[in-house]
Amino acid sequence: MMSEKSDGNSSILDFEKLLPTTLWSKEELCEEFELEKCPLFVAAPMVRYSNYPFRKIVKDFGADVLYTPMLYAKNLVQSYRNRSLNWGWNLGSDFPILQLAASNGEDFAEAVEMAHLWTSGIDLNCGCPKSNVRKLGCGSILLKTPEKIADIIKQGKSRLSTTAYPFSVKLRILDSSEKTVEMCRMLEKAGIDNIALHIRTVEMGGSGPTKPEVASLVKSAIKIPLYINGGVRNLREVFELAKETNADGIMVANGLLYNPALFAGYDHTPMKAVDNFIDTAIYEGMPQDIFHQHLMFMLRFILGKRERQNFNHCSSIPHILDFLHRLGFDQGGNQRRPHPFILDDC
Ligand SMILES: Cc1cc2nc3c(=O)[nH]c(=O)nc-3n(C[C@H](O)[C@H](O)[C@H](O)COP(=O)(O)O)c2cc1C
Repeated sequence: MMSEKSDGNSSILDFEKLLPTTLWSKEELCEEFELEKCPLFVAAPMVRYSNYPFRKIVKDFGADVLYTPMLYAKNLVQSYRNRSLNWGWNLGSDFPILQLAASNGEDFAEAVEMAHLWTSGIDLNCGCPKSNVRKLGCGSILLKTPEKIADIIKQGKSRLSTTAYPFSVKLRILDSSEKTVEMCRMLEKAGIDNIALHIRTVEMGGSGPTKPEVASLVKSAIKIPLYINGGVRNLREVFELAKETNADGIMVANGLLYNPALFAGYDHTPMKAVDNFIDTAIYEGMPQDIFHQHLMFMLRFILGKRERQNFNHCSSIPHILDFLHRLGFDQGGNQRRPHPFILDDC
């Protein structure tokens, strides 16, 4: 086994040390946490990142439910360019839940009609805090008018001849638990099939403390499935949150970016996940900046500081691949090929 130090930081070549000695199975953890039912493992929508190649890896490592990045309903309907860009590597062939941003029922229903054959459900984004999204009447601005959310979903549903196709909403908690419960109850009554609840308010942003106690109240107030999202970094935390809230599913975003094998019980991205990701991303033709960014996330806690700096400066896909090859990654073969020299540059 190779072990090198550079600038006093642990090197990727200590890879085995990072692997957990025990990989827990979902069933074992369900038993340990005395859960009546195992929660679904849900991969969150992420602009830029929850694209098809990434979802494929996350699915291979245990995810049950996969969301696309948020796509504007209007753009999807109006623009051939947008459609062909997104259809290919965002929708892919894995029948994900398509997340739409929409400010009105007409745009939403048009997009639903177009996309329902390639997806296993539609989700309306009601949680994005970005000002450019809110200015268009989309994302978290909708939380101010839950009746509008209900109307948008109603219009989408009425466009399809089947009732078997599920419609969900991704919400954030409001500034009081009573208001949050009231909103979720109202949406359930309006016919929404399931809810994903980010347990931070809009003001709390996307990281930091969460409020699982609000999720527990919502769960006991509604009958439709509830996915809880926020702050989960490893598989034990998935089960802790499921235990605390009785959620039907636990949704993870950042945790999966840094470790797409989180749902399979790995503490850090395993080498085979990186290898598989590279294969699929190259095959599907992922844009270089997103490809590089994904790998920076996945290797964040594995590379030593110096390797990380060098890796972040790679300026082309051949550079990135060459760098990884020298670290021992072997695209496609899942073989570890350690190389004895110190890594200086791409
Ligand atoms: C890079 C990135 C992109 C995101 N894009 C979306 C999105 O398209 N739609 C959405 O509803 N939430 C989006 N989110 C929010 C996540 O889905 C999730 O609600 C949030 O990160 C909290 O989960 P976490 O604590 O597991 O990271 C995004 C988050 C990140 C980090």
